[in-house]
Amino acid sequence: MPTLPEGVRHFPLYLSPQRQAALVDEIRQIVQEAPLFVPAMPRTGKEMSVRMTNCGELGWVTDRERGYRYQPTHPVTGVPWPPIPETLLGIWRDVSGHEKPPQACLVNFYDEKARMGLHQDRDETDFSAPVVSVSLGDDCRFRVGTAKRGGATASVRLASGDVLVLGGQSRLAYHGVDRIYSQTSPLLKNGGRINLTLRRVTA
Ligand code: SIN
Ligand code: FE2
Repeated sequence: MPTLPEGVRHFPLYLSPQRQAALVDEIRQIVQEAPLFVPAMPRTGKEMSVRMTNCGELGWVTDRERGYRYQPTHPVTGVPWPPIPETLLGIWRDVSGHEKPPQACLVNFYDEKARMGLHQDRDETDFSAPVVSVSLGDDCRFRVGTAKRGGATASVRLASGDVLVLGGQSRLAYHGVDRIYSQTSPLLKNGGRINLTLRRVTA
């Protein structure tokens, strides 16, 4: 797969360095209200290498007992998720082509050793809206295939300020993060990468 699959759109440096820094400040605020938690795989309880939190009316969580799901409150504090920052709502309006606003924003933090295996985003009940993803901090190698497990994949290097959209026939494409390229961005004081994914959950 030489180029990106149909329905995958990459907008390099969508956010200027200045807007990236402002967004990081907003994410820090969100993390203060809704601390990063350690997600665990359903049944096995194996911990994922990323640390997560959310903003929006719904947040994506996972643990051994109850598995993958969306819920309106933080799994540790029980407090409702903070609202989605206006910057992200604006990006969604500009690139999603969807009339309704996002309901969920998953915040993933990757340290230099973290990765994310190939998976589909399919815990939503409506797939008509795309998934819109914003990258901040260190570069990563992002891998994306088709909606069929084990199909061909392509990779793209995502850098700070990039926006990536998984829509149309790629809405259910398998995707993941192979690796983080550490110390490739000065944005985060202690290094690492933040990824924000905006989604509709229900119709
Ligand atoms: C995800 O699939 O939840 C994260 C993708 C990314 O980190 O770019
Ligand atoms: Fe995903």
